[in-house]
Amino acid sequence: MQGFDFKCPTEVVFGAHAEERIAEKLRAYGAARVFIVYGGGSVIRTGLLSHIERLLTAGGLAFRVLGGVQPNPRVSLVREGVREAIAFGANFILAVGGGSVIDSAKAIAHGASNPETDVWDFWTGRAKLEKTMPFGSVLTLAAAGSETSDSAVLTNEDMQQKLGLNTALNRPVIAFLNPELAFTAPKRQIVCGISDILMHTIERYFTNVKQPNVFSDRVAESLLTTVMDASHTAVKNPHDYDAMSEIMWCGSVSHCNLTELGRGKDFTVHRLGHPLSARYDATHGATLTALWPSWAAYVYKDDASRFAQFAKRLFGITDGTEEERARAGIAHMKAYFEELGMPANLPALLGHPLGKADIERLADDATAGGTKKLGSFHPIAKKEAIAIYTLANQA
Ligand code: NZQ
Ligand code: ZN
Repeated sequence: MQGFDFKCPTEVVFGAHAEERIAEKLRAYGAARVFIVYGGGSVIRTGLLSHIERLLTAGGLAFRVLGGVQPNPRVSLVREGVREAIAFGANFILAVGGGSVIDSAKAIAHGASNPETDVWDFWTGRAKLEKTMPFGSVLTLAAAGSETSDSAVLTNEDMQQKLGLNTALNRPVIAFLNPELAFTAPKRQIVCGISDILMHTIERYFTNVKQPNVFSDRVAESLLTTVMDASHTAVKNPHDYDAMSEIMWCGSVSHCNLTELGRGKDFTVHRLGHPLSARYDATHGATLTALWPSWAAYVYKDDASRFAQFAKRLFGITDGTEEERARAGIAHMKAYFEELGMPANLPALLGHPLGKADIERLADDATAGGTKKLGSFHPIAKKEAIAIYTLANQA
């Protein structure tokens, strides 16, 4: 096993009515003036936002609210949030929503703690983030894992760029996980979320590390099979508390780095997916399923035995040569995504195939103009990014 450094400091309050304890819990992190961030209005329609407001008021906490976060969250709203959070004198940022809202809350916390810096500069690397303020979330969608992750992903709409920032300062201090709050999510968001959860672990399963890593492998395989099993129930009945509980908790574990210990992460498919969100506003989870089968087909020969292990442990595939088993595992995963209702190629994602120039532009975006290679399993340069997008472009 390779060495690692693992610190996932987020307090998780899990269960039905988890958010009831919000005032007492936030006060323990020094919160007095809470800046609440939410999305397009689902939390108003469900009554969750007003409930949180009542709980904070009853607990003696002042708050101000900013709504309007869109999926693929925009830096322009974050900038507005930074100004408002500073004017309000916020000392805690609370996201009430899914990954886009949480990522915006993270960015607002960073921006409000560093008023001299344009917040986007932290994402481009022009400025280095060295301080922030405490933030947390009441999660309404099992998906991105931002509630425990060290990552935040923002879109700069003017530049058509979607970039992630990874830093320990992105770790929230607390997450309230009440599976019931996810019952109202549209089915499309539930299946995109399930796909994202699976991909956070799959993109840590296939790296270039060859040393044995038995426990991390078993954790990853257990997480994947748990989510896939629960997904069948949750899709039929999104109000199934037990199924949604498994999916929600696995979502938080999948992206807190636990499943990468001793192996690291690859994340090529994520990084090929972000330009599709930036250019076409494609939903994050759907960009991943549209690309993964093509990425896997392109790279599996580098370590067919690893793909054969994946095939055996997830789908019970034992017949055929190693390469045949590896290919069968990829085919089963693709079939699972399609059964879930997810796109498994680019025309299915976008409604049309892409032209050569579009693909060239996406590959440029993903590799910073051909200057960066993606991932470690099979490092992907611009030429290979073009090959994978081209494979995925064939319906
Ligand atoms: O905006 P509202 O009205 O709340 O509606 C949202 C939104 O339209 C809706 N929704 C969420 N919970 C609901 C609900 N509707 C009804 N009832 C509920 N309970 O779902 C839609 C999607 O929300 P969004 O927050 O965008 O979804 P998700 O959690 O999948 O987040 C996606 C974003 O997270 C980023 C993605 O790139 C994308 O921008 N990611 C963040 C990561 C991180 N910070 O660690 C890692 C991921 O890999 C990912 O990149
Ligand atoms: Zn993701």
